Amino acid sequence: MTDNILIIGANGQLGNEMKDLIGMVPQCNFLFTDREQLDLTQPQQLKNLFEKHHFSFCINAAAYTAVDKAETDSATAQAVNATAVRLLAQTCHQHNTILIHISTDFIFDGLKNHWYNETDTPNPISVYGKTKWQGEEAVSTECPCHVILRTAWLYSKYGNNFVKTMLRLGKEKPFLSVVADQIGTPTYARDLAKVIMSITEKLYQAHHAQQSLADYFGTYHYSNEGTASWYDFANAIFELAHYQTIVKPISTADYPTPAIRPKFSVLDKSKIKNTFGVNIPHWRESLKKCLLELQKSE
Ligand SMILES: NC(=O)c1ccc[n+]([C@@H]2O[C@H](COP(=O)([O-])OP(=O)(O)OC[C@H]3O[C@@H](n4cnc5c(N)ncnc54)[C@H](OP(=O)(O)O)[C@@H]3O)[C@@H](O)[C@H]2O)c1
Repeated sequence: MTDNILIIGANGQLGNEMKDLIGMVPQCNFLFTDREQLDLTQPQQLKNLFEKHHFSFCINAAAYTAVDKAETDSATAQAVNATAVRLLAQTCHQHNTILIHISTDFIFDGLKNHWYNETDTPNPISVYGKTKWQGEEAVSTECPCHVILRTAWLYSKYGNNFVKTMLRLGKEKPFLSVVADQIGTPTYARDLAKVIMSITEKLYQAHHAQQSLADYFGTYHYSNEGTASWYDFANAIFELAHYQTIVKPISTADYPTPAIRPKFSVLDKSKIKNTFGVNIPHWRESLKKCLLELQKSE
């Protein structure tokens, strides 16, 4: 019997990138659901879906990702990122489904000044970060057979993101001010999607070879290589896209937002490299690839 893989959040940046990569796990059937087909806050919909199909894997690429809006709409953020994730984790456990769940660098407070590894203690400073951390805790408690992947600063040719915003603003304005005192790593959602597919493939092969998967389960960090501020990122976008836009560095204090962001949230990726043997591209290389994709779709 062919294994089924459920991917929730089909219309998001990551969900869309995953759709383009299903050929990486040719042994499996994929079912992608968007919010209309499966609203994570509707328990009956989840129950019906899991009763109808057996899924070997469930990849949760859905989330409430409006970081600033979450500050005033915490109930929805909580419902999607925490309460629904708990139910999803319980459902996966009941149905012997391996859950691959995506989380964020925003679970950290950003005060460490050194790369964060998986053993660092989370201390989220925004509603979004808090709800995502609650989601992680629910996955760890309710579904032992899980992989949590924390990622950062995602962009893609799909959806709304910093790269697309900069390209739009760069066309309209000769000068832009961009925050230069928040440091992280821009991450191409295509690269993250590839890693998720290759982890799924590895787990699939190990399972079918009757090997124990226990050593693979747990929490991992994944972003592209390198570090940047939003200012660096904006400059790279304009340089690689051949825009003349001039970027002025400003501080977080000059650009207040409803949600506080971590000042420093660079992720240490040693664990995922050692466990799954993944090769991680530098963010500038991946940015070039995404810009080419965007050009093609113009
Ligand atoms: N974006 C980033 O910079 C970033 C950084 C670190 C981590 N992450 C994490 O990475 C993952 C993927 O992020 P992304 O950027 O691909 O997100 P995204 O583009 O915002 O997509 C999220 C998807 O979740 C769906 N969704 C929201 N509420 C839902 C619900 N109640 N039921 C079902 N689906 C629902 C949305 O549906 P609609 O299309 O209908 O709204 C959307 O398609 C998320 O877990 C996010 O927390 C993202």
